[in-house]
Amino acid sequence: MRENTTKMRVGVLTGGGDCPGLNAAIRAIVRKGIKDYGMTFLGIKEGWKGLLEANAIILDRDNVSGLLVRGGTILGSTPASVFKKDIMLDKFIEGYKELELDALIVIGGDSTLGAASRLSDAGLKVIGIPKTIDNDLTGTDRTIGFSTALTVATEAVDRVHTTAESHHRVIIVEVMGRQAGWIAVMAGIAGGADMILIPERPFDIEDVCKHIKKRHETKNFTIVVVAEGALQKGGQATFKEGEKDAFGYATLGGIAYWLKDEIRKRLGFDTKAVILGHVQRGGTPTPEDRILATEFGIKAVTLIHENKHGLMVGLKGDKIVTSPLKEASKGRNVPPEIYSMSETFFD
Ligand code: F6P
Repeated sequence: MRENTTKMRVGVLTGGGDCPGLNAAIRAIVRKGIKDYGMTFLGIKEGWKGLLEANAIILDRDNVSGLLVRGGTILGSTPASVFKKDIMLDKFIEGYKELELDALIVIGGDSTLGAASRLSDAGLKVIGIPKTIDNDLTGTDRTIGFSTALTVATEAVDRVHTTAESHHRVIIVEVMGRQAGWIAVMAGIAGGADMILIPERPFDIEDVCKHIKKRHETKNFTIVVVAEGALQKGGQATFKEGEKDAFGYATLGGIAYWLKDEIRKRLGFDTKAVILGHVQRGGTPTPEDRILATEFGIKAVTLIHENKHGLMVGLKGDKIVTSPLKEASKGRNVPPEIYSMSETFFD
């Protein structure tokens, strides 16, 4: 039972895939909310599943200690469609009431923030914080986790450069990102890729091979960065056989193997494929992700103190801003001008 107190009781939930920086956001929310607003915090266990089951732990100064540098989420995470494909709004509302929450901070990507927006429409006090290594949400220039994934991917591109050069090879580096090419294009620019393939710009395998052939007239190695969701003109994305994600949808991945086989077959070059996978989502967050998570956490808890809700916090330029929660699930692709910039170096 709730104590007889006027302290606000705020839930914190992490939903969807994990990423570095979630714990830093939890820490910032709890530290700021306790220190400046005297709030009480409940960490919802295992994301949306925990809200259905009203399963939560108290978060306080002690148990958020040491979280700034720790990857993943101490709370655990499940997607909004936790038991079925449908989002169980009524059950989430029951969980919120059973936990006697005055407000809920939801840290998630497009699906989780979409569910948060529906809870807000249903009358709950909800604030969203954008996280995903994919960086593909409307309402913010950057999402928590992107900087770390980009750093890992760039380091991988740097590392394959020296080995590709030594053995005169073509190396394809496949990165994550779902239907957005943010990690690919940015890691490709930062790592000096000789070609970048992203979902926003479907490719023609003939052109890819022509490009590599031409390059090898003067160079003896090529680095291609490909986003897992990249697809051929008029074709489909590549899915991992038999693998489904938590929503029951087929999992993207494996296009690097297909490209490797095509390049070998068409050009005869020694070609290797490297798939970075979940390495991009693990480990300690970069300073940029720690700072962003801290800024987002502090803004979210401040909004709750001001009795504002139905909003997502975000970064626009160097400002922390807010936008309607429902905007977040619209998605955000790589703009053509960024891809064009990367093309300058494709030779
Ligand atoms: O959305 C984050 C992300 O890492 C995507 O880049 C990737 O396609 C997907 O999640 C992988 O999901 P899972 O961890 O469920 O395999």
